Amino acid sequence: MPTFDSRWPALNTCRLRLATPGASLLMLVAAGGFAAGCGNPESGNGNRPDAGHEPQPTPALREAASRAGILIGTAVDARALAMDEEYAELLALEFDYVTPENVTKWEPLEPTDDAYAWESADSIVDFAEAHDQAVKGHTFVWHRQLPRWVTSTMTAEELSAALKAHIETTLERYRGRIRAWDVVNEAVDVASASGYTESVFYDKLGPSYIEDAFRWARAADPEVLLFYNEVGIERMGPKSDFTYEMLKELLERDVPIDGIGFQSHVSTHRYPSLTDLQANLRRFAELGLSVNISELDARTVLMPGDREERWLAQRIAFQQVVSACVGEPACEAVTLWGFTDKYSWIHDDTPEPEAPLIFDHDYERKPSYDGVLDGLAGKYPQQGDNLIHNGDFGDGTDSWSVSGGTLEVASAQGRSGNAACVNERSEAEDGLIQANLLDVLHGGGAFSFSAWVRVAGDSDATDAASVEAALIVKRSDADDDERSIASSVVVGGEWKQVTGYLGLGFEEPPENIELVIYGPASGIALCVSDVQLRPVSP
Ligand code: G3I
Repeated sequence: MPTFDSRWPALNTCRLRLATPGASLLMLVAAGGFAAGCGNPESGNGNRPDAGHEPQPTPALREAASRAGILIGTAVDARALAMDEEYAELLALEFDYVTPENVTKWEPLEPTDDAYAWESADSIVDFAEAHDQAVKGHTFVWHRQLPRWVTSTMTAEELSAALKAHIETTLERYRGRIRAWDVVNEAVDVASASGYTESVFYDKLGPSYIEDAFRWARAADPEVLLFYNEVGIERMGPKSDFTYEMLKELLERDVPIDGIGFQSHVSTHRYPSLTDLQANLRRFAELGLSVNISELDARTVLMPGDREERWLAQRIAFQQVVSACVGEPACEAVTLWGFTDKYSWIHDDTPEPEAPLIFDHDYERKPSYDGVLDGLAGKYPQQGDNLIHNGDFGDGTDSWSVSGGTLEVASAQGRSGNAACVNERSEAEDGLIQANLLDVLHGGGAFSFSAWVRVAGDSDATDAASVEAALIVKRSDADDDERSIASSVVVGGEWKQVTGYLGLGFEEPPENIELVIYGPASGIALCVSDVQLRPVSP
């Protein structure tokens, strides 16, 4: 398997800087009127320099990423690049890695069998080369945005031949110009009987299409980096487990896969914890894979509260994901799925816009921009003191109650310290409660959660059970509002750390807030140890 630095050394360039404020970068490129500069990634709060003041050294993301030894990228909207000069300027200034958002998918590239439309893809590759940026192609095999002529009426042989030709033709055209490709995208769907996404590829060819695509790509270009790309695998859980086992088995058969992309389309109201993300990046890295954060954006409207609260939680979400990559030696790139809310695929037709990216519609930096900078500087979000009273049950059942069943605190079997066990549970909702958290949570904010949990049936024969952790926001004039923090499938008899992240805000002041931990079916004892809920800040 080729090594990364031999084929594609990380582009270690300092940032192009506008020598003449306000001039277009594209004009400056033509006039050679720009100077490379590597500002200090520590600085750079606030918005871009305005015409009225001497521009402050703004640490463009790509210089901060270069110092961190990773690539910082974005999905590129070909139409915006062609039509919107400010979009093109920021793209060149901030990023050193570009992924065509759509125009290198099968339908835009080959709308008619063996008749290619290269222009839009060429425009992005040309732009990248002119601005010292690497390119990641996206994506050869995906069940969406397929050409009309690729249909289930094709025989398996026809489909296989068409896909092979598409991969070979495209790789041949961009050989030496595109650094990496998402060869296969989103092939896993744990909701399906097989665990694989039910698509024309799986239906016609079975799971072998995945191996075939990677082998065809490697045969067509021995140098390009070949990635598998997946959505929703940031948490430890069934989907990341299935993906891990699938890639492990393919790699054991020497299928040429160089890396995996964690898409990381997240939401600020609830998000995988740093613990989960780090553990996931690490276990795939231990397979010998490079890892990427490949499509990062963070929706905001599912988190109640005002825009300032939601955008602060968004800043922390970006910081958390980017710092997890910088902290993982095998993570070589972070790509945002766009950089301005103006062109995000997540449309703003909600009353309050999702605003999932790092520049607003007017190209002004948002707090999430600084979250990326903090992450690139390797700064993990700061965790405050544990807000849970008697979280280690050192004071017995003090501050704890149950919603059903019986509560017993004793030394934890198989762990140090104490554990609280809820026995004689008669329904899934029977669980552990810590009420009266209003005084520490009424201001809202971002919080990380962690608890060790163990489930056991009467005979310890429980195979697995789901465990949920949530905050219940209570108001006298409305139903209880459950804000999920974490959920996990726990194997019977084994302690497991359940972690999560929550953006907490309120449309109206709550009457009370309580933490609940529940989930296993009736008859299954639920034991909990070392409960932590900590405020998180940049
Ligand atoms: O180009 C056509 C245009 O000619 C036509 O007039 C218009 C109206 O039908 O459609 C245009 O194509 C749209 C394309 O985006 C370009 O704008 C497709 O309908 C639309 O479905 C497509 O959406 C893209 C989506 O993938 C499906 O391909 C989003 O922009 C893109 O952000 C999204 O990205 C995916 C990743 O590839 C994989 N991971 C998930 C991620 C989000 O869904």
